[in-house]
Amino acid sequence: MNDVLESLLARVETEQSSPRNVSSYWKHYGSLTEVKRVHGRLVLRAAGMDPVRPQGPVELIVRGLERWSYRRVTARYRHFPKVWREALGLIRTLGLGATYNAFKLSSALSLLADHWEEHSLKPRTFYLIGDGDGFLGALIRRFVPGARLYCIDLAKMLVFQANTHMRAEPRARFTAVTGGAKTDPAAEIHFVSPDEADSLTEAFDCAINIASMQEMNHESIVRYFHLLRRTGSRDHRFYCVNRVEKTLPGGEVIRFHEYPWRGQDQVFMDGPCPYYAHFYSRQTLARGPRWGPWGFRVPFVNYFDGEMVHRLASLAPLP
Ligand SMILES: C[S@@+](CC[C@H](N)C(=O)[O-])C[C@H]1O[C@@H](n2cnc3c(N)ncnc32)[C@H](O)[C@@H]1O
Repeated sequence: MNDVLESLLARVETEQSSPRNVSSYWKHYGSLTEVKRVHGRLVLRAAGMDPVRPQGPVELIVRGLERWSYRRVTARYRHFPKVWREALGLIRTLGLGATYNAFKLSSALSLLADHWEEHSLKPRTFYLIGDGDGFLGALIRRFVPGARLYCIDLAKMLVFQANTHMRAEPRARFTAVTGGAKTDPAAEIHFVSPDEADSLTEAFDCAINIASMQEMNHESIVRYFHLLRRTGSRDHRFYCVNRVEKTLPGGEVIRFHEYPWRGQDQVFMDGPCPYYAHFYSRQTLARGPRWGPWGFRVPFVNYFDGEMVHRLASLAPLP
């Protein structure tokens, strides 16, 4: 694994992903994200996203209340108790806390697991586009034995993901697909830079993009849809959870309904994302709508800056 980490770090040190893959949002937050070695130790500090991180006793209570506030949503997911148990085990292994992000990603996997069961699907190969700190990928590896992962992300975030996967299961086989580097075809977890994603050939059974296309250039979104239409297995699924609309710092407006969906795509689920509506914070943040659905503002309950929607689809192949 260390060779893989070294090659991912070298990628960060020598160059970033080509500008066409980096939106104004990630130009800004990518420059604030710290990935460095200090006295041989890896120092990682994320910006522009909320990684799964350690928590103190107050947050423990706050997060418990947060999960309780979503109880009607999670009660509908048959697999939630099992996925959440796995998530708590992973959180312990990684020395992190049961944050909103861990809850959100567990809800996403529970919803998918219910769907796979209903449709007798046994997904094995996953494309994870923009998995942030890699928590979802590591959770999938625990929940789906033998899952093969392609983790596609910008250079700095691939180091976060490699660090998470390496700590979650040091004995797994990893490889980096970052341009020029020799890859291990027998690897179970592949770290892929956006520039190399077009070279992927292994058919995927499930692709997931959460809170990530909303922050990409339209051109990158179009390229990923092209990749997914080219490489999806016959019964593949694409689970896409993103903001209805988001304005990036450079002024680009990214709209979910303007992603290159097609009329021939088979849609299994579509609409507001029920586990992604509010979160608790020790402050009542200024951002987000000032009033909740009850018509008044509840202290510490915060809303996202815009509505999150999700769609589970099988994409029509390229003509
Ligand atoms: C807000 S984070 C979301 C992380 C995680 N999916 C979650 O929901 O917690 C957005 C992620 O998208 C990634 N990203 C941004 N531009 C990308 C691109 N062109 N290709 C792949 N990933 C990208 C970022 O590096 C980051 O990992």
